[in-house]
Amino acid sequence: MTLSRRAVLGAGLALSACDHRELSLTAPSHLPPLKDVAQFPVGTCVRSDFLADPAYAALVEAQVSQVTPEWEMKMEYIVGDDGAFRFDAPDKIAAFAKAKGIRLFGHTLVWYIQKPKGFLNLDEAKTPFATAYRNYITTVVGRYRGQVVGWDVVNEAVADEGDGWRDSLWSQKLGKLEHMTLAFHHAREADPDAVLFLNDFYLELKPKKRAEFLRLAEALLKAGAPLTGLGTQTHCGPELPPGAIKAALADIASLGLPIHISEMDVSPARARGLFKSRAELEAGQARVYAEAAEAFSQLPARQRFAFTHWGLRDKDSWLKHEDPTDTPLMFDDQGRPKACAAAWERGLR
Ligand code: G3I
Repeated sequence: MTLSRRAVLGAGLALSACDHRELSLTAPSHLPPLKDVAQFPVGTCVRSDFLADPAYAALVEAQVSQVTPEWEMKMEYIVGDDGAFRFDAPDKIAAFAKAKGIRLFGHTLVWYIQKPKGFLNLDEAKTPFATAYRNYITTVVGRYRGQVVGWDVVNEAVADEGDGWRDSLWSQKLGKLEHMTLAFHHAREADPDAVLFLNDFYLELKPKKRAEFLRLAEALLKAGAPLTGLGTQTHCGPELPPGAIKAALADIASLGLPIHISEMDVSPARARGLFKSRAELEAGQARVYAEAAEAFSQLPARQRFAFTHWGLRDKDSWLKHEDPTDTPLMFDDQGRPKACAAAWERGLR
């Protein structure tokens, strides 16, 4: 029985990452900037309105070397109901990144959740859907060519439980796989250098979804799509079983492409009922962050594209809309590093 390249590579990475570290639960009095302790770019998501806050802007500048617009580079912001485009907010983020010498990551071009009226109300007799689709992608990617280092070209295309690929406006109009291969080709046409990602979530939690994600990636490559990176969002919780992230990264790395941990946060609130105490919740959170840091650090350097936290201060997290008491990120509301930040930093060593 010949082992596939994926099996051999993946097994090596999974086996090599089985040591555990003592996790201190006290918040560190001092921690070097995240970007200074990592051997790879460290990122966070940002919003243009938050950048007006000097404390927020200073924390971003101090801690990370890459930023991802949290929502203002998506169709929901850019595409007006009349089909016109607006770029004021993403341009502000791009200008901030340029001024601070921070890499800019583009998120996201095609997402099943986003189906703006500008496309839904398209007069296809005047403008064929495929033309509007190509125009959107080439306009947005072309606008930031030379600054954006990578794009989430297709986001969350795999069904929640891994049973095939999601249905969407894009798949209905342009084909299940074809709308994705087209998106990658249009992005490459507009930017010859950016790394072009397929991005998805729960790849560490759901091995069946991860397998389907990798099957989709292989199908795209086979179809000639210029897919050149794989993003694993890593929105997870302290209850995630030990080893799940290491196994997922080993598996995803088996295709040999650059990997982006693209949106990590670890939500204690969502797991509250599974732990006996706050201290145990926070210990679990620290363990998961440490494992992600360790597993990502053990990837070959050419596959360590970036490690992005989906926010820096707890109060800025999208998860606050679900539970205002949630504390999923590396820094507290005052921008001070938490115990999980120290655990993440130790996981890099
Ligand atoms: O800030 C405006 C506010 O001025 C306006 O009054 C209000 C009206 O709706 O919108 C506010 O913007 C919201 C924005 O978050 C900032 O809070 C948008 O409506 C809302 O759609 C947007 O949600 C974002 C969501 O993606 C959808 O784009 C979240 O911030 C963002 O964290 C979330 O991120 C996603 C990733 O893109 C993909 N992976 C999952 C992840 C979490 O859902």
